[in-house]
Amino acid sequence: MPDDRKEKEHQFGGEWTTRKLEVLARYLRSYVTVLKSTPFRKLYIDAFAGTGYRDARQSDEEENPQSPLFPDMVEPEPQSFLDGSARLALQIEPRFDQYIFIERSPERCVQLESLKSEFPALTNLVELHQGDANVKIQELCARNWRSTRAVLFLDPYGMQVEWKTIEAIAQTKAIDLWLLFPLGIGVNRLLPKSGDIPESWRRRLNLLLGTEDWYEEFYKIETMPNLFGDDNERVVKATMETIGRYFTNRLKSIFAGVAEEPGVLRNSANNPLYLLCFAVGNERGKDIALRIAQHLLKEVR
Ligand SMILES: C[S@@+](CC[C@H](N)C(=O)[O-])C[C@H]1O[C@@H](n2cnc3c(N)ncnc32)[C@H](O)[C@@H]1O
Repeated sequence: MPDDRKEKEHQFGGEWTTRKLEVLARYLRSYVTVLKSTPFRKLYIDAFAGTGYRDARQSDEEENPQSPLFPDMVEPEPQSFLDGSARLALQIEPRFDQYIFIERSPERCVQLESLKSEFPALTNLVELHQGDANVKIQELCARNWRSTRAVLFLDPYGMQVEWKTIEAIAQTKAIDLWLLFPLGIGVNRLLPKSGDIPESWRRRLNLLLGTEDWYEEFYKIETMPNLFGDDNERVVKATMETIGRYFTNRLKSIFAGVAEEPGVLRNSANNPLYLLCFAVGNERGKDIALRIAQHLLKEVR
């Protein structure tokens, strides 16, 4: 990347976005190359597809003033001149057999639609779905996957992904998943130090994590004797490291393979925003997929 662009991105805190997209693009390139001479139909599915270009607006949570997800951790990224995930995928050679873009916003879908004319050779290969990613992915996963393989990118701003969607993806045994887990931007913020969690926050955590046992994992009661010989109890909240490990273990309970060390995407103040997680559904493809993904997660820093 030219130095002046690097400098600009650094200025706007865009390095973590660059890292995320570089890992994705390099994985896609390896994926189509490795699967080139296999009989499988190869799909790229982008479930929070955006516009095709990187986004200046950082959180749709901003629309909801009650939201516990504060966009303040993420600096504005006026990078609209740079390719987002959908455009990057369309440029990968050799090409995929199909590109499925899912996006909730109708306006963004219009922008995605215009990619068809930008990439005329791929027009008939692009399928666009306007709607909620959870609904659309669960529909796609219910198709017959015997002769199909896919890479699926889940790049939400916040807590939008539901565990039952992740389960549906794993059940196809045909999809390699890259997922942004909202560690610092979402989950950690819904877990106050006191352990008193509003019911609506609990529900969001349940939906994302797919269990209700996370509370015991994330909060421990510590007992310490005080000067008078009595016991003092205090609630100790888990570190972000523990929360991240918990989620990796959740993925391991349903996928054939999971990268043990997800990428940590940090803002310019070094606070973790997201974990870039990788999971592979197919037992036979798992070793090579994990080797490539883990190499990229280490190399792209
Ligand atoms: C972080 S942006 C995606 C950026 C994109 N991957 C890129 O690299 O350019 C998240 C996108 O998800 C969309 N979105 C938010 N909630 C959604 C949902 N429930 N289903 C589908 N799309 C959603 C937003 O409109 C936004 O365009």
